[in-house]
Amino acid sequence: MRVGVLHPGEMGASVAASLLAGDHQVAWSSAGRSAHSRTRAAALQEFPQLDDLAAWAEVLISVCPPASALAQAQAVRACAFEGFYVDANAIAPATAVEISQLMGAAYVDGGIIGPPAWRAGTTRLYLSGPHAATVAGWFQGGALEAIALPHAADNGVAASALKMAYAAYTKGHSALLLAVNALAQSSGVLESLRTEWAQSLPGLSQRSEATAEAISAKAWRFAGEMEQISATFAECGLPAEFHSAAAELYARLSEFKDQPPASLDRLLEALVHVDNSGS
Ligand SMILES: NC(=O)c1ccc[n+]([C@@H]2O[C@H](COP(=O)([O-])OP(=O)(O)OC[C@H]3O[C@@H](n4cnc5c(N)ncnc54)[C@H](OP(=O)(O)O)[C@@H]3O)[C@@H](O)[C@H]2O)c1
Repeated sequence: MRVGVLHPGEMGASVAASLLAGDHQVAWSSAGRSAHSRTRAAALQEFPQLDDLAAWAEVLISVCPPASALAQAQAVRACAFEGFYVDANAIAPATAVEISQLMGAAYVDGGIIGPPAWRAGTTRLYLSGPHAATVAGWFQGGALEAIALPHAADNGVAASALKMAYAAYTKGHSALLLAVNALAQSSGVLESLRTEWAQSLPGLSQRSEATAEAISAKAWRFAGEMEQISATFAECGLPAEFHSAAAELYARLSEFKDQPPASLDRLLEALVHVDNSGS
């Protein structure tokens, strides 16, 4: 297949590598992208403009910040693209439905669970909808495991629903841990909390440090993902405020975008010393 990847970020570059391993032709469009994406796209065919990529590709796979997934699909729609469109982003089922309405019958819903797929066995691309099994077949031979969800459980956007449920716990849990540290810091009891944790919940202080370093550079992107998760809870008639608070918390950490991993102390400073004046 001729596949365009929008775009070769940390995850998109590994998706592209899996397709290359399956002997597909893989390309990207460079307009508007950073030097980081260019470096990660070194093995891919380059099209300067999205229109040219869309005219060449039989399939486009969207792997971009969740908050930009709908705008990315609209840009593709404006190119009158006629092939398969796979949205593999962490988006709410309602957003996926909106994108499927733009793309029509060739829409394929996806959701990725796991780190960038550089080793077999780490990462799964879940797919749903009538073309899920076809798309899954294209990934044979690469490190990314593609799984078509069974049709019985599939309303066309089940892959997005699964990703939302999974990330609601993983990234929601990280947000809660950071929020608790910030609360204790702000109240002047962080050291006492750590002493208590050492006795009754051993490992939580270390987990807080590790969480801060693991997420600091990606927190800006998690904010949009938390908003999608919050919308998913609301859509299901469940309280949505937990994840909208997580979105706000991650948004307060956006200054760490593209920076080396930052310590818990630095994240707490950014979380607590925020200008809440509304000005
Ligand atoms: N990384 C992971 O561990 C992981 C795990 C599971 C799922 N995912 C999913 O994979 C998707 C991408 O994550 P990632 O880790 O690859 O993110 P990333 O490293 O930040 O890469 C995002 C890519 O999208 C491009 N991009 C930035 N702003 C954009 C915009 N407004 N419109 C279109 N493209 C834009 C970036 O280009 P420039 O930066 O060059 O502008 C980059 O090539 C997300 O939906 C995420 O939920 C990621």
